[in-house]
Amino acid sequence: MIKKQILDILKRENDVVSGETLCAAAGVSRVSIWKHIQKLKAHGYDIESSPKGYRLGRKTDALLPWEFPGREASIHCFEAVSSTMDIAREMARNGCPAFTTVIAERQEKGRGRLTRRWFSEKGGLYFTVVLRPRLPLASVFKMNFLASTVLAEILRNDLGVDARVKWPNDILIGEKKVCGMLSEMEAEGEMASFVNIGIGLNVNNDPPSTESKAVSIKMLLGRPIPRKSILQTFLDTLEKRIFDDDYHDIISEWKRKTITINRRVEVVTHRETASGLAVDIDDTGALMLRLDDGSLKRIVFGDCFLVGNP
Ligand code: BTN
Repeated sequence: MIKKQILDILKRENDVVSGETLCAAAGVSRVSIWKHIQKLKAHGYDIESSPKGYRLGRKTDALLPWEFPGREASIHCFEAVSSTMDIAREMARNGCPAFTTVIAERQEKGRGRLTRRWFSEKGGLYFTVVLRPRLPLASVFKMNFLASTVLAEILRNDLGVDARVKWPNDILIGEKKVCGMLSEMEAEGEMASFVNIGIGLNVNNDPPSTESKAVSIKMLLGRPIPRKSILQTFLDTLEKRIFDDDYHDIISEWKRKTITINRRVEVVTHRETASGLAVDIDDTGALMLRLDDGSLKRIVFGDCFLVGNP
């Protein structure tokens, strides 16, 4: 793997390395080295070029497989894709192992919930992880709640931001959305054969100005944030919790981190829009809404918008 060879040399030397040295080590032409360097830059490597050669800078935030020791075979990183969901679905159907992760620097047709588009410009963290929990279909919802709870906790602990979950699976900081999740599953009989969780986290990207309720972590903290450690901690924690079967009480845990309960909300479903006070999330992950006429409505699937101030 020529890119890995180039990187190993740049890391080892920790100084400027001439193009000739890299050509000799990798056994390819200078043009080829230059092309590989451009690709590495596009993947987040901070490589300075000068007439003397190349040097690896300190601002590197790359997500290529070899940056995740132990996961080299299961991480698939692309510069640009249509949607990581499509690639992960094919891999899952073809029998890839659990925790196979498809990452993209950019998505051209990033998908959001309820057929919305997900803007996926450079700098964000966009990935889909393939899960294969041994769960009956009725319990699959726990995977979504587990993923959002784990990620919100990582943002709180590692970055010190006040990240909260919003029904069903968004993460907000303050009142603004920093992360969305989309899940897809297929089943064999009563059991899930795979559950793919797609996550779009606004890290160093600027969400489009049309998305006034979106924010990135960089915008909030005023500095670029490494994506790699967020992803690594997320995959490690998720894997451990699934392996340990440590998610069956996930709804209670999620409720302790939510912004949704006790807020007035508007919920858009395929069929209708309902407004009321969000009073609870039941044991199946459904939202319990107190409508203005006093009745309770149970909503299984929809998009929820906070209305008014906290
Ligand atoms: C939403 O809030 O509407 C869900 C957004 C999910 C976006 C992620 S980005 C990675 C994965 N690939 C996609 O096309 N969508 C999900």
